[in-house]
Amino acid sequence: MSKYITTPIYYVNGEAHIGHAYTTFIADTMARYEKLKGEDTYFLTGTDEHGQKIEESAIKNNKSTAQFADEISATFKNLWDEFDICYDKFIRTTDEDHKRGVQKAFEVMYAKGDIYKDFYEGHYCVSCETFFPETQLIDGQFCPDCGRATTIVKEESYFFRLSKYEGALLKHYADNPDFVLPRSRTNEVINFVKTGLRDLSVTRTSFTWGVKMPESLNDDKHVMYVWLDALMNYITALGYGKDDANMRYWPASIQFVGKDILRFHAIYWPAFLMSLDLPLPKHIGAHGWWTRDGEKMSKSKGNVVAPKEVADAYGVENLRYFMLREVPFGQDGDFSQRAFIDRINSELSNDLGNLLNRIIGMSEKYSDYEINSVDVQKYHKKELDAMNIVLDSLDSLMQQVQAHRYLEELWKLFSIGNKAIEEHAPWVKMKNGKKDEAAATVALVANILAKAAIMLSPVMPKTTNIIADALNFTIDNISYRELVLDRKLLKLFSIKKVPPLFPRVEEPLMPEAPAAQPVLLKEESKNTIESIKEQDNLIEIGQFFKTSLKVGTVLEAEEVPKSTKLLKLQVDLGDGRIRQIVAGIKEFYSAESLIGTQVCVVANLKPAKLMGMLSEGMLLAAKDEDGLSLIRPEKPKKAGTPIG
Ligand code: ME8
Ligand code: MG
Repeated sequence: MSKYITTPIYYVNGEAHIGHAYTTFIADTMARYEKLKGEDTYFLTGTDEHGQKIEESAIKNNKSTAQFADEISATFKNLWDEFDICYDKFIRTTDEDHKRGVQKAFEVMYAKGDIYKDFYEGHYCVSCETFFPETQLIDGQFCPDCGRATTIVKEESYFFRLSKYEGALLKHYADNPDFVLPRSRTNEVINFVKTGLRDLSVTRTSFTWGVKMPESLNDDKHVMYVWLDALMNYITALGYGKDDANMRYWPASIQFVGKDILRFHAIYWPAFLMSLDLPLPKHIGAHGWWTRDGEKMSKSKGNVVAPKEVADAYGVENLRYFMLREVPFGQDGDFSQRAFIDRINSELSNDLGNLLNRIIGMSEKYSDYEINSVDVQKYHKKELDAMNIVLDSLDSLMQQVQAHRYLEELWKLFSIGNKAIEEHAPWVKMKNGKKDEAAATVALVANILAKAAIMLSPVMPKTTNIIADALNFTIDNISYRELVLDRKLLKLFSIKKVPPLFPRVEEPLMPEAPAAQPVLLKEESKNTIESIKEQDNLIEIGQFFKTSLKVGTVLEAEEVPKSTKLLKLQVDLGDGRIRQIVAGIKEFYSAESLIGTQVCVVANLKPAKLMGMLSEGMLLAAKDEDGLSLIRPEKPKKAGTPIG
């Protein structure tokens, strides 16, 4: 049976961070594991390039949308190439084949009567590319998922009859309790469906950066909704809609996603597939969310961990190991250098690296690098039995995507090896003339390392190749079958010295996360966003100076209609460009009272939109139970005077 493994296709509105890397690492590990087992495996990743969000990002970056999408898509592809991700195809939703496949799918669903035309009016969050009912909005206007302001959209739209599939979906979850992995996430999906599915708007008329309608519908006012377009990538990648489609890989064996997009993959996607009369994926594997030092990562906070930066500092395979070992699949995880360094030093360097070094050292001393397994059975039956129990347990853990448990189990092999050396003390045996016994212990451990390297290879492919090279064998399906499944031992072989694989890390190799800056997030949208968040973390002076603080003079101020909190200010920062700043201070200051006064401004914040208005900076203010007070220079200063 063939295997088909996918990652989400990532939006090209910004470069990858470790969250994207995590999903890709898990999928890559799974694909490598299946390939090791000799399965006919296809591994897909790629980029999601249409929709309003990308269009807007391109405008902000002063690029044409197509050029912007090309550039960011290339950064993802290059990163995965640099990380040696073994994808079989990197799909882009701007690929012609993909677009044709989506149109074909649309036609099929339309012909079936599952798509009809009507009007849509609702609150749309561009960042999430999702409509939300009024009742779900925070303060009647902000997106319940990301906290950003939504906009009201009314337009003609084609709808997909999602409601029709409610019963079939519920039945599928009931019949296939492992459809969503981990199982514990199934309930949230079921509950969502049970609250009632509304038909889904699947086209848009308010922008043009999307897949066009199929010609047969003759309605080019519309473009496809980005999620319909995006989800179809999993079958267009196999050639859906083409005559020579390679659909033999469908249905996918597992589709990895973050929990943020589980709903799209466990509800909309299966419904689309049912409409297309295609089988559903075997599993949707939904993992948790990564934070950095306990804080949500976001571009506006400036605390995003760039995968390349981590890989350059610590090595990409160490990062893979850390991410897969640190977090039970499905749960949230925290990236901290402390935790990462601890695992490198104790698990990789001590448990594994030292064991290999000891074996190389002993074989050098005792037998001129020759290893002979002839007496292993005789002296080490106990250890071999323990080793085989571990090896037997691994496959089912990987099938359940329990990579952390898989690695935990695998590490037992190294403690079996380390313990055998302590107990049998080959150096004592050598002294006492029991050379055979010493040779058997060294051979036992060399064999344990060989088998462990094979099983670790999907997680750390390059590192384990070095181990295999030292032990003079090759990791592939043949050695997997012989050494792991058939439990054979490497018989007589010579090994070689390799440099230490995991040098100890004494102190953090990257700068710590920058101090968090306040952003308009769910919790904070209810309060003002202008208060500077208290921070216990100490920072370098250089980090502080990354923030450009300036004195500004308020030229104009007006109330934002319908908002109880916001004022819109035009502020002079002395550089000839008047900045618009939307500030949550209406409850504490009247607009008129501000005109002509001075304020302190964070001048190098990335612009953000509040209630649809551009805000290009932030005012410093202090707030307590008595209210909010702006921070101002004690004596008037020229507009633009730096603070610090
Ligand atoms: O949602 N922790 O793309 P996207 C863990 N284009 N995983 C994270 C993460 C974090 N902090 N941040 C991102 C989209 N991810 C759509 C998908 S699929 C047909 C269309 C990972 O660029 C995680 O896998 O926003 C999450 O689901 C995905 O990136 C979202 O990537
Ligand atoms: Mg996202």
